[in-house]
Amino acid sequence: MQDRRQNAAWRLDRPQESDWAAAARLERAANLSPWGEVAYRRAAAHGLALVARTADGEVCGFIIGHIAGDTLEVDNLAVAAEWRRRGVGTALMAALGAQARARGARRVTLEVRASNIAAQRFYERCGLRVVGQRGAYYREPVEDALVMSGPLDGGQT
Ligand SMILES: CC(C)(COP(=O)(O)OP(=O)(O)OC[C@H]1O[C@@H](n2cnc3c(N)ncnc32)[C@H](O)[C@@H]1OP(=O)(O)O)[C@@H](O)C(=O)NCCC(=O)NCCS
Repeated sequence: MQDRRQNAAWRLDRPQESDWAAAARLERAANLSPWGEVAYRRAAAHGLALVARTADGEVCGFIIGHIAGDTLEVDNLAVAAEWRRRGVGTALMAALGAQARARGARRVTLEVRASNIAAQRFYERCGLRVVGQRGAYYREPVEDALVMSGPLDGGQT
C-alpha cells in the first residue's frame, strides 16, 4: 500500500491477529472509549481494518471500520502520540476509504467526542463536516458525540 507521505519510518499493513493487543494499548494511551483487544479482533474479522507499522514492525496506528449500505463507518482510529502529525492518520483514513470505495461505499461517517477538537480538525482535513450531534453518546465521562460525514472521493489529502 502506498501513500505519498509514507516513508521508510512507517508503512501501512494488513493487521495480524497479534496486532490487536498493541491497538488496545494505543487506545488506552489515547483515552478513547475502551473496546479492548477481543472486540477489535472480532470487529476486524467482520469489517475493514489497517495498521501502520514502524520500521521495526511495531504498531504505531490503527483504523477499524465497517460498511453499512453506501457508507463507511469509522469505528476507531488512533496514532501513537510520538507518531502524530506525520501523515499516519491521513494515510490510514485514505487507505480504508479506498478499500470501502472498492466495496461500493461512497460516504464516510463517524462519531467523535465533542471535546476532541484535535480529531475534529483532523477529520475536517480529511474532508468531513459536522452533520449532527448525539446527546450523551459517550460514557466515562458522559459526553455528546458530533457526527461527522463526507464523500469518500474527496478531500483526503
Ligand atoms: C486524530 C489522530 C488520529 C490524527 O492522526 P495523525 O497521524 O496525527 O494525523 P495527520 O498527521 O495525518 O494529520 C493531518 C492533518 O490533520 C490536522 N491535525 C492533526 N492533528 C491535529 C491536532 N492535534 N490539532 C489540529 N489539527 C490537527 C492537521 O491539519 C494535520 O496536518 P498538518 O500536520 O500538516 O498540520 C491522532 O491525533 C490521534 O490518534 N488522536 C488520539 C485518538 C483520537 O482522538 N482518535 C479519534 C477518535 S474519533
